[in-house]
Amino acid sequence: MPHDVTSHGASHTGTSAGSRARSGLSALERLRDALPRPARLARLAPHARHARRMLRDWWLRRGAHGDHIAFYRGVMRSDVARDPNAAVGTPTQERWEAVGELQFSYLRSHGLQPAHRLLEIGCGNLRAGWRFIDYLAPGHYHGLDISPDILLAAQRVLASRGLQEKLPHLTLVDDMRLDHLPDGHFDMAHAHSVFSHSPPQVIEECLSHIPRVLKPGGFFDFTYNRTDGEEHHVLHEDFYYRPATLIALAQAQGLLAATMDDWDELPHRQSKIRATLPRAYVRDGE
Ligand SMILES: C[S@@+](CC[C@H](N)C(=O)[O-])C[C@H]1O[C@@H](n2cnc3c(N)ncnc32)[C@H](O)[C@@H]1O
Repeated sequence: MPHDVTSHGASHTGTSAGSRARSGLSALERLRDALPRPARLARLAPHARHARRMLRDWWLRRGAHGDHIAFYRGVMRSDVARDPNAAVGTPTQERWEAVGELQFSYLRSHGLQPAHRLLEIGCGNLRAGWRFIDYLAPGHYHGLDISPDILLAAQRVLASRGLQEKLPHLTLVDDMRLDHLPDGHFDMAHAHSVFSHSPPQVIEECLSHIPRVLKPGGFFDFTYNRTDGEEHHVLHEDFYYRPATLIALAQAQGLLAATMDDWDELPHRQSKIRATLPRAYVRDGE
């Protein structure tokens, strides 16, 4: 299990040397100290955001009784209520469009064809999904997500882009077992910024069920937060993995996995791995 660096959260939010020097002060004293000084107040804003998230996440984890999916569903409910685009990681419309386009053009230039059937795991509010839906034949896009709130936002995006005729499948799930999907159906699967929010057991569950739904020779592309140091998580929301760990998890399920190094040159903080189902893969019972 990646270790918890939640209490070091300030280092992820840009602690300045000055604020470290004042760390002997209570939060209230720091606030009172900063009030007449807008620049100092601005420096405290990330700390306040982190503290708010810490408190909220502690509350949500308490109610989830150790079930990560239930916890993360609560995180999404709270984030979607504020702003669905920000809930999938892009606070501005411009960035939402850009990250969707990045995913779409990359997959198109790495194998996607209009006749393919695509499974998107953690489809969010269709940031990339609406572009896939537009490009693929009707009914060939299957998006799934654990959050009912983000799926409702996805339906609004679908309608606003006028893509109703494409009849995509948008499904709420409770786990990564993919039980509702047929064997050998998909040419490819895609998960962007989902494993970056997933503990190892969720990733393992997903990788163990993906081979059943892929066609032989089909592949699964997923992004993740890369670390070359110790694996860790922040607030149980953001998880950091070494590429070798994820490659080994995929290989353990009979997938051929490799890092997609050209993705790293694009303007995005996460890295990408492609896990391919060998053409000679033999399914249980065959
Ligand atoms: C950062 S958002 C990215 C959404 C979308 N992939 C995109 O790029 O716009 C992560 C999404 O994954 C969903 N998610 C998180 N864990 C999941 C899981 N185990 N199974 C399915 N969806 C999950 C969240 O509800 C959220 O919609």
